[in-house]
Order: sequence, then C-alpha cells, then structure tokens
Amino acid sequence: MKKRILLLAGGQSGEHEVSLMSARSVLAALPRDQFDVTPVVISKQGRWLPPTDTARALETGEAQGGGDLVLHRVASAEGYDAVFPLLHGPMGEDGTIQGLLTLAGIPFVGSGVLGSAASMDKVMTKQVLASAGVPQVAWKLATRRDWKDRPESVKQSAEELGFPLFVKPANLGSSVGISKVSRPEELTAALDLAFSLDRRVILEAMTRHKPREVEVGILGNDAPIASPVGELSFDADFYDYETKYTAGRAQMHIPARLPQDVAKRVRDLALTAFRALDCAGLSRVDFFYVEETGELFLNEVNTMPGFTTTSMYPKLFEAAGISYSDLVTRLVNLALEER
Ligand SMILES: Nc1ncnc2c1ncn2[C@@H]1O[C@H](COP(=O)(O)OP(=O)(O)O)[C@@H](O)[C@H]1O
Ligand SMILES: [Mg+2]
Repeated sequence: MKKRILLLAGGQSGEHEVSLMSARSVLAALPRDQFDVTPVVISKQGRWLPPTDTARALETGEAQGGGDLVLHRVASAEGYDAVFPLLHGPMGEDGTIQGLLTLAGIPFVGSGVLGSAASMDKVMTKQVLASAGVPQVAWKLATRRDWKDRPESVKQSAEELGFPLFVKPANLGSSVGISKVSRPEELTAALDLAFSLDRRVILEAMTRHKPREVEVGILGNDAPIASPVGELSFDADFYDYETKYTAGRAQMHIPARLPQDVAKRVRDLALTAFRALDCAGLSRVDFFYVEETGELFLNEVNTMPGFTTTSMYPKLFEAAGISYSDLVTRLVNLALEER
C-alpha cells in the first residue's frame, strides 16, 4: 500500500519562498511507487491553500488566494500517514506546527515540539549546548523590557563581550535582523532593529578572527549518522541575507578542506548537539572554525534546513552516497518509524 503524504510548504516566515523552492524539489523526488503526495502551500497570512492555488503557488513562487484556517485543515489531514512540514523559521520550524500535528496524532518528518523549539531559539540552544559541554562563543541575553527600562545595562553587557559583536533576534533565521557591531556607536541601531523583530535578543562575541563556516548534516532518530563536513565561502563581511540568497555570492565546498581531526570533532559535536536538543529525522548543524587558533564553535542547529537539490544538506548526504530521492524517502520512513 502506498503511503499518503501531506507536504506542507510556504508558511508565514521570511523563508516562505525558500520553502516553496525546497518543496518543488521534494515533490519531484518522492518515489511515486511508494508515496501518494499531496502538497499544501501555506500563505504568508497562515492560510492553507486549496489544490489549484497550491499548484499555482508552487509554479510561480507566489502564494495567492483565500485558503482555510489551519484548524479546519488539520481535521482533514487525518487520512494521511505522515506529514512533511517543509517550513522554515517561525511558525514552521519552531515547534508550533509540530505541536499541532502531535495533537492530531499524525507522524511527521523532523524534530518534535521540544527539539524544534529549543533549536529555533538561539538563547535556548546555547543554554542546552553549554550544559552538554559543546563549545560556543560568549553570549548574553537581553529582553525588550531590559532595553526599554535599563538600556545602560544592555550596553554594559555589550562592552563586556567586546567589539566587534553580533546582535541577533533570538528566533528568526536567514540572517534577518542580524547586525555586526564594530563600534559602540553602532550598538543602539542594531539593538533597535533586533528588538523590532523579537522580544528576546542575543548578543554574541565575535570569533577572534573571521571564522570559516563549516556545516554538517545529521540524519536519523535515535541512532543518527553524520554526513561529511561541508564549507561555505563568500566575499561579504559575514553571511548576511543578501549573500545567502543572491545566486553566485557563496560557494559550497564538499568535503570541506579540513584536517581530519577537525572534521571528526565537527561530526562528533554535531551528533552531541542533535541528541542534547532532542532532535529527530534531520538537522544541519553549523559551526565556526577559527583556523588561526584551531578553535571550533557551534553556531546553530537548523531542524528544517534548506532542501532544494542544490542546498547544503542534501548535497552533504549525496557526498555520503545517499541520493536526493533516497534521502527524502528515508526521512519519510524515519517519520513513520515507531519512536
Ligand atoms: N559570533 C559570531 N562570530 C562570527 N560571525 C558570526 C557570529 N554570529 C554570526 N556570524 C555571522 O552571521 C551569520 C548569520 O548568523 P546566524 O547566527 O547563523 O543566523 P541565522 O540563524 O539567521 O542563519 C553567520 O553565518 C556568520 O557569517
Ligand atoms: Mg545561520
């Protein structure tokens, strides 16, 4: 019997378009002799689009039309064997949709409520990983209330970390709202921007030298495996939104040109992080490697990484001998597996 799969794409975050691109690739790759796949595009307003509007959105990359409220659609999702929530960022990768699907009793691809929520929040990730002994840059939390009532203490936190530093909304992605602050004079604008997007903001010390950015894929549930390590290189000051999404601005190197012991540490630390955060199915774990000092810092864990055929995560597993189509098949089967 073919398994019925509901593929959710689009969503309410800034990564809506990326998700649509990923969904097109996944839709084309899931073997039809094993799966019956129904795509549903979620509009930026959170409406679940009917089939014709979904098809148009996947084709044009623009979600238009009224659509249904999520609660009406979840009831009709009951006939599915599994859901593939191919959604990035808030309201997709952060435990919200995972909670809904858990309540509805439908298995789904990827991490559950806890793993998704803990990995999405940069502060929570840091706290969990610190207790697991994973190396990270120094950081401090500030809330919108702190910034409003006690701006001097927030600035004090920044001084203690030293410049340059990074200011980031705790729960976003795609580098949206992130600033590299080189001098104290730039701090207020960076904090205003981050707090306009999130109630919680993380201040992060910058690595002492411009880091190399290396990434590794994890696949599995309770016995996860790590892919080879990949590297991203680019010309920009840091990996900002424009560099991420302008074709040709960043290059992927697989495998990363790293000493063997460093690559091994990356893979081991990524597996430790995956377990500590209670991730499942898949994650892409991103690191900073400071070549000058040999230091390795875990930067973040993405529980639903970009998933086009040219995205880092599938490319990493391709290098491990798992084709794109095998990879999506495995992910769905991991969702169906008894946990
Ligand atoms: N502490 C840091 N030291 C050096 N570079 C950093 C640091 N934090 C972020 N960056 C740069 O900013 C980019 C985006 O930060 P990241 O935390 O990965 O945000 P997002 O979740 O939006 O991808 C990184 O890929 C890196 O280029
Ligand atoms: Mg990142």
